[in-house]
Amino acid sequence: MFSFFKKQTKPSIDFSVLKTDMHSHLIPGIDDGAPDVDTAVSLIKELQDLGFRKLITTPHVMADLYPNTPEIIQKGLFEVRQALEVAGIDIEVDVAAEYLMDEAFGEKIEQENLLTLPGNRVLVEMSFVSPAPNLDNYIFQLQLKGYQPVMAHPERYVYLKSDLKNYTRLKEQGCSLQVNLLSLLGYYGSQVKDTAWKLLKHKMVDYLGTDLHHAQHAAQLKKVLELPKLARLLKEYEFANATL
Ligand SMILES: [Fe+2]
Repeated sequence: MFSFFKKQTKPSIDFSVLKTDMHSHLIPGIDDGAPDVDTAVSLIKELQDLGFRKLITTPHVMADLYPNTPEIIQKGLFEVRQALEVAGIDIEVDVAAEYLMDEAFGEKIEQENLLTLPGNRVLVEMSFVSPAPNLDNYIFQLQLKGYQPVMAHPERYVYLKSDLKNYTRLKEQGCSLQVNLLSLLGYYGSQVKDTAWKLLKHKMVDYLGTDLHHAQHAAQLKKVLELPKLARLLKEYEFANATL
């Protein structure tokens, strides 16, 4: 029998088991994420619809490109919260930051002026081209100051060569690992995808994050929910997102 109505294919699962997304770029106009507050609100709504109950958004902090300070980021959060209230969207939104381990990062650690995830956790990233020259030192310095480093998207640093030894070393140094959900789909290429699944298989992943910058990412996140392996992963793997 023919039907005039195409059956809606809605994934049967969502990201609610994770509860918290702790990596995104939703503070308007201060990095390569949401350019304005209306876009930020619509992206937040999309993340809520995908199942997230709490968002800790993490603008880039890079000395050259995005010299954001805790004050700039907090001011942006205030604007976003106001706009969410006006729009009647009820979701907890907070801020931390994604710090590039560039030459200026050491001074920020020294001044203890970092915007953190709960538990004094600091989301850090490296260049995609070459390893941070001060990586070991920064990880050590962070912990000396009572911070807990969390490495953003370790699967995307191709110079780590997908070699488990490199990731084990990071973990042994005290660095937690946050894999991007979009990596599971192959959004950043097949090598990144393989590395992400390999890290999961070896139970080395602490957090999953959306790293959402724009609407295209939100659309791709819906496809992540359709991955056959995802439901089992979310059910069986204990991610630390919900503790944040
Ligand atoms: Fe990011």
